[in-house]
Amino acid sequence: MTIPGGFTGAAVVAGVCGWPIKHSRSPRIHNYWLRQYGIDGVYVPFAMPPEGAKDAIRMLPALGIRGMNVTVPNKEEAYKAMDEVDRWAQRLKAVNTIVVRDGLLYGANTDAFGFLESLRKAQPGWRADAGPVVVLGAGGAARAIVAGLQDEGAPEIRIANRTPERAAAIRDEFGKPVRPILWEQRADALGDAALLINTTSLGMEGQPALDIDLAELPATSVVYDIVYAPLETPLLVAARARGNSAIDGLGMLLHQARPGFREWFGTDPVVDQELRNHVLAVL
Ligand code: ATR
Repeated sequence: MTIPGGFTGAAVVAGVCGWPIKHSRSPRIHNYWLRQYGIDGVYVPFAMPPEGAKDAIRMLPALGIRGMNVTVPNKEEAYKAMDEVDRWAQRLKAVNTIVVRDGLLYGANTDAFGFLESLRKAQPGWRADAGPVVVLGAGGAARAIVAGLQDEGAPEIRIANRTPERAAAIRDEFGKPVRPILWEQRADALGDAALLINTTSLGMEGQPALDIDLAELPATSVVYDIVYAPLETPLLVAARARGNSAIDGLGMLLHQARPGFREWFGTDPVVDQELRNHVLAVL
């Protein structure tokens, strides 16, 4: 009889912590890969209240836990708990992936990687210097995406946010090429945009649709929506209808999970249609 992964005393333990945690899709992604690769490991959701998060995370080596993903609202507390961080975590002051190495806590932020990988997989010919990028929203996801685009050499990143101070704060922190624009002027900024990205929660199930007139957007522009429930947001439907390439938010969610899995379980996992279907089944 084959023993399923995670049922022996040698199982590698990893997981995800957040508060609340029950909506996290990460267990579905990682446990799918564990089964697919026949790895003796488990990936567990940890409901971790933010007030105790730093102390709890410091205990990971003592508990023999190999590592953890971190989600809302614990990413900033996790950053403070690390012994060492990668350049993305350093820049974003937030950690979404913890690896325990030789008893020390190593923190990474894989959101920019997840975004760039999903963009490259969907648009293999994409180049950061193709033209200005318009980013809608200025929350945590926007910060990671802007950092990734800046790193790739995007010449101009226009950020429109309902609360203008948050867009200005990203400009102050990241500097050139970030340029805040008024939320009311988001449609006027599309004329020469090579890439339009929605990082707001608008278009998500239970939220109003994103209201933006795409008339000025060049036909060659790519439209990326980080929302993945539903997969086809009103923005993506409108983009496709006028001939623009459209990318949904599921790819970013799946690709950001890869580096952690590789570090904890020793296999670089593949994001394929089967995994997409497996995660979509519960969206
Ligand atoms: P995340 O970390 O996932 O990016 P967040 O920090 O809550 O989440 O950011 C959500 C983004 O959606 C913000 O840019 C928010 O705008 P504000 O900074 O003005 O709050 C944006 N957003 C949410 N609801 C919105 C709405 N009804 N209209 C416009 N923007 C909205």
